[in-house]
Amino acid sequence: MRVSPSHRSGGLVLCYGTRPQIVKASVLLESLRARWPVVAVDTGQHYDFELNGLLYQQLGVPPPDYFLEVGSAAPVPQTAAVMTRTADVLRTRQPAAVLVIGDTNSTLGGALAASKEGIPLVHVEAGLRSGEPDLPEEANRRVVDVLAHLLCAPSEAAAACLRQEHAPGTVATTGDVARDVLIRHLRLVPPPRTGAPPFALVTAHRAALTSDAGSLAALLAALGELDLPALLPLHPRTRHALRDFNLLARIPASVEVREPMGYLETLAAVRDAAVVITDSGGLQREAYWLGTPCITLRHETEWRETVECGANALLPAMAAPGKLSTLVAEQRRLRREAPWSPDAYGNGRAAERIADAIGAMLD
Ligand code: UD1
Repeated sequence: MRVSPSHRSGGLVLCYGTRPQIVKASVLLESLRARWPVVAVDTGQHYDFELNGLLYQQLGVPPPDYFLEVGSAAPVPQTAAVMTRTADVLRTRQPAAVLVIGDTNSTLGGALAASKEGIPLVHVEAGLRSGEPDLPEEANRRVVDVLAHLLCAPSEAAAACLRQEHAPGTVATTGDVARDVLIRHLRLVPPPRTGAPPFALVTAHRAALTSDAGSLAALLAALGELDLPALLPLHPRTRHALRDFNLLARIPASVEVREPMGYLETLAAVRDAAVVITDSGGLQREAYWLGTPCITLRHETEWRETVECGANALLPAMAAPGKLSTLVAEQRRLRREAPWSPDAYGNGRAAERIADAIGAMLD
């Protein structure tokens, strides 16, 4: 889909607001600013230092031009606040296009603002589907994919999905910017400690898991059955849930609880772990790229290529007791016997390809 230049400024607006989006914004800002003026808008969906400021620091992201201070709220007021405040920025700056990333409430709010203001929309990380209509992120990405003029798909399968759904926008297979960031920063991560004992890296933050006491309790019980110690950096949502459900005392002695870790510490932990156990999309791919076996605590994943090649296995938290330990052993054995090739999501030049696709759209 071509876009007529009209009266708009030649610049772009990049809208982001959660921890993984700040990571991706780091490379996008750099490659887009080499070609256009870019206004950076941080919605403030994530505001704690560990989820926001620390990422800016570690990744050298310049401060945003606008910090919208949306903060935490129920999904409707949170999305509405993103939409209203982003629309104010768009009316002031009149960009030629707006970019949103992924599938969060910040993504949806930013996309709706662009659409209502009649500004062309670019969706980075388009075409992902887990097939779970009730998952908030699945609803967000489906809506954004219908609104977008340019759909930047991280994989061939995501691009094929958009074509199959007859998405109205232009589809470009660009690869995943998260790989660009990883390649760039891996050399800043200290080498693994020799002789360090094996451990499992565990994270859980999604609503499906953290709003269900039974699932959280099941996960803790299953971690206690592992013959490995576990490192558990806690997202604030999960910390609140463990407290509210009176589950803090059920954390097994073999589990070391930490504050949320920065990007570089997370990369080191994913690389050095014997296994990653997570419900995070970012960690699933980082494990896949770094050669660490992964178990995803969900029924489905939108990163299906990681499962198809054997790098990742699905096990919902509720089903984990009695099974997680066996699956960990199986995944570690598979990794030794059949290592996978980590190229399903591009070669680390996604940001450049996205800039090329935007250039073609605006020409
Ligand atoms: C959001 C995304 C999720 C993404 C995740 C990345 C949506 C629907 N979900 O989930 O897809 O994987 O970001 O981390 O947008 N909180 C704090 N401090 C913060 C931010 C949040 O304490 O800086 C707590 C609050 O209690 C808040 C809760 O975490 O209510 C949930 O935060 P929210 O922004 O709604 O979603 P995430 O769970 O972070």
